[in-house]
Amino acid sequence: MDENKNKDKIIIIDFGSQVTKLIARRIREFGVLSEIITLGELKYIKNFNRIKGIILSGGPATVTNRNFPNIPKSLFLRKIPILGICYGIQLIAINFGGKVKKGKKRREFGKTALFKKRESLLTTKFYKKSAHNVWMSHQDLVTKIPKGFKKIASTKESPLTIIENKDKKIYGIQFHPEVTHTNNGDILIKNFIFLICKAKKEWKIKSEKKRIINEVRQKVKNDKVICALSGGVDSSVVALLMNKAIKKNLICIMVDTGLMRKNEFVHTYKTFRKKYKLNVKLINASEIFYQKLKNVSDPEKKRKIIGKLFIKVFEKESKKNKKIKYLAQGTLYPDIIESKSATGSKSSKIKSHHNVGGLPKKMNLKLIEPLKELFKDEARLLGKSVGLSEEIINRHPFPGPGLAIRVLGKVTPKKIKILQEIDNIFINELIKNNLYKKIWQAYAALLPVKTVGVMGDSRTYEYICLIRAVKSEDGMTADYFNFKKDFLDKISNKIINGVIGINRVVYDITSKPPGTIELE
Ligand code: XMP
Repeated sequence: MDENKNKDKIIIIDFGSQVTKLIARRIREFGVLSEIITLGELKYIKNFNRIKGIILSGGPATVTNRNFPNIPKSLFLRKIPILGICYGIQLIAINFGGKVKKGKKRREFGKTALFKKRESLLTTKFYKKSAHNVWMSHQDLVTKIPKGFKKIASTKESPLTIIENKDKKIYGIQFHPEVTHTNNGDILIKNFIFLICKAKKEWKIKSEKKRIINEVRQKVKNDKVICALSGGVDSSVVALLMNKAIKKNLICIMVDTGLMRKNEFVHTYKTFRKKYKLNVKLINASEIFYQKLKNVSDPEKKRKIIGKLFIKVFEKESKKNKKIKYLAQGTLYPDIIESKSATGSKSSKIKSHHNVGGLPKKMNLKLIEPLKELFKDEARLLGKSVGLSEEIINRHPFPGPGLAIRVLGKVTPKKIKILQEIDNIFINELIKNNLYKKIWQAYAALLPVKTVGVMGDSRTYEYICLIRAVKSEDGMTADYFNFKKDFLDKISNKIINGVIGINRVVYDITSKPPGTIELE
């Protein structure tokens, strides 16, 4: 049974913007079901009864070309409220006799001040008393207002930044309300879905749980599934969900790559066997991981090697039982978006997350990725609803390739051991000082260079370690965490005194962008 069939929903037609999923996520945060579809999929929708609103996303296309992705005119006749964002407003403009021009040479990009021109339901309780900034990222702009529309707000560069046709319930916004850089952007989305579309709050994380469980049961039937369990939040949530769905047909496999944090592996293994009573199998593969990584220093190569090795281990296991047909893993939406390439998708490739882009092209096992539409905090909510402990739910994200991408350059067991010690000191201090929960992700990395120092009366020549701690909402953007000087002093002393092989500690003060959270 489709859990969501009889619920009010908002559909988002995706024109390829990197942040389309954020629109869906904002709508879910307000308790309303949302579904992202492509233009092609629109044709197959037969029943529009429960579709309360339609959002046209941003995207890289331009309506100033002769050919551009357009929505069928019939969609405007359905009397369903429509909101166009960025490329979406330009589509609306062109369909109602407005004009869109290619922007001047420079793009309007970043924070811009917004000016109110007229009251609208869409902007109810939206404006701030002080300067109101919105996030722009566009080149084209609407230069002539479409027929039947009114101007609601402007910026210096885009006089027609918010427009509406109240009677037809069609709205357009040039900036991105879905990103956190837009002040009160979520209020615009909230007003659209509740005041304009009158959608009912019928979506809960619990319904997502039921949906996933049902889908897994229908797909897997009586076959068996290997679940790649690392003990991180995402794979733990997947393991518990899969267990609820298929019980004895689930085989959780923990691969000891030798690249995990100190003691983490044994602790996780015991927790999942004893507390959650899962069928967990442990495979020690550290030797082969170190062997294949020997002398490799390119980050993408490391990621690919690790991705391949994981699959090799799982496929070897699957040969032991003919019924094993699937591999379940905890891929999240941001993992997918950052692993896509400029040619394969509209968003450009940043790095191959091992459980997505790092996988070999040919695999015998079929993938099950129940969290691939969700963001980290949504996965955490789901974890809570399947009874995952607070300790695991609140665990900072940890990348699939593990410490291999935190020992920069060539990976050796000795360097991993040094890094495990540093990381352990750092994370324990964060917990002791009540900082762990305030930080979205923290870790230590080992830099592949040595520097000169002095200890006692002797010269030292040892490695530098880097510590990183970031605040973030979903890992797609991040700011570095502002530690007090005392804490940094303490950490530096503890690491240098406690770990042989390190004589210098640096703190990374780069945000994302321009940096990424991991260094490789
Ligand atoms: P970046 O470094 O891309 O990281 O800013 C964003 C988030 O993703 C995590 N990350 C990974 N997670 N497999 C994963 O499961 C990977 O290969 C991988 N690479 C990065 C990273 O730790 C951060 O939370």
